[in-house]
Amino acid sequence: MSRMLEPQQRAATPQAVDALDTPVLIVDLDRLDANIARWAAFARQAGVKLRPHGKTHKCVEIARRQIEAGAVGLTLAKIGEAEVMARAGVGDIFLAYEVIGSPKLPRLIALARQVRVRVGVDSAEGAEPLARAAQAAGMTLDVLIEVDSGLGRCGVRPGQELAALAQSLARMKGLRIAGIFTYRGYRPDLEAAGREEGEIMVAEADRLRRAGIEVEEISVGSTPTGRSAGRVSGVTEIRPGTYVFNDAMQVRWGSATPDDCALAVLARVISRPSRDVAVLDAGSKALTAERGPYSSRGDSHGVIRNYPDCQIDRLWEEHGRVQLTDEARRLRVGDLVEVIPAHVCPTVNLAERLVCTRQGRVVDTWAVAARAQVQ
Ligand SMILES: Cc1ncc(COP(=O)(O)O)c(C=O)c1O
Repeated sequence: MSRMLEPQQRAATPQAVDALDTPVLIVDLDRLDANIARWAAFARQAGVKLRPHGKTHKCVEIARRQIEAGAVGLTLAKIGEAEVMARAGVGDIFLAYEVIGSPKLPRLIALARQVRVRVGVDSAEGAEPLARAAQAAGMTLDVLIEVDSGLGRCGVRPGQELAALAQSLARMKGLRIAGIFTYRGYRPDLEAAGREEGEIMVAEADRLRRAGIEVEEISVGSTPTGRSAGRVSGVTEIRPGTYVFNDAMQVRWGSATPDDCALAVLARVISRPSRDVAVLDAGSKALTAERGPYSSRGDSHGVIRNYPDCQIDRLWEEHGRVQLTDEARRLRVGDLVEVIPAHVCPTVNLAERLVCTRQGRVVDTWAVAARAQVQ
């Protein structure tokens, strides 16, 4: 990890947040540090490893803070993200994603020569090329089998399907089954959903063990379900990602409060076409097109801090239209607002940098080093 301790690059930055050009992503470091510390403390107390998903921040400096606080390494989806983080000194990476396609294999092998890498698999067809590439490179690649615990995305079904895949992987030279993992997504009762997620996975691991398959790792969880899943005895690792910033979706699901939201899109009012409408200089190229039931008036592309009942009801590429509440009618052309994004992860992926603040002052600027790394 020594390379991760290199001094941060400091850009020449203005001192006060209201002197920033817009739209720009601002990160409140007090909130960020509190989020990182809270989840690190939870993992320590629950006796599970914390492996945050780095797709949320894609930022080396934040990975460093998570690891310094106790995370064992990172979860990532794409090899491109892993290459960036490995270069920055992150030495332990789980690609919780099926690595499929021959152009990826040399990159995966090169990565595995550099740092500890484990990979998700959910089919024998997907695993065979990995096994052949690992064998040809004279190495053994650790894989975790993805189990579908109810999301309906990737993963084999618990029971017979999982057992059959595990048996066929166990016969492949070049691969070693390191464990199982799941991602359950968002459900109405998060406490019960997380508990069930953990229980399903522990039961499946026990069943595999009885069939003679070693299962070291049982990796579960996300920001909404990570705490309840992480408390289930037998679970070894949790993988929350969004927790580091939080967003309007997490607030809506009850897994964070507005005060836990560390990142906002700082935007300016550029037009006041009518009494009840303001237009911001942030559209879908700054906020993404994501929306949800985040305003009391209906679906909104985010939440305006201090004016949570305003509704960002429509976006164009560079414009965001806001339906104002009585209180927010005081906003004038040129005024600044902070928009808590609907979904922070794809929002960060649109930005080149994060401007870091403490108590309204700019203290640093960090690159979103793994932005747009979708391969
Ligand atoms: C496989 C996997 N693990 C963990 C996470 C982290 O979830 P969250 O960002 O809700 O914390 C995700 C999110 O997409 C995921 O796909």
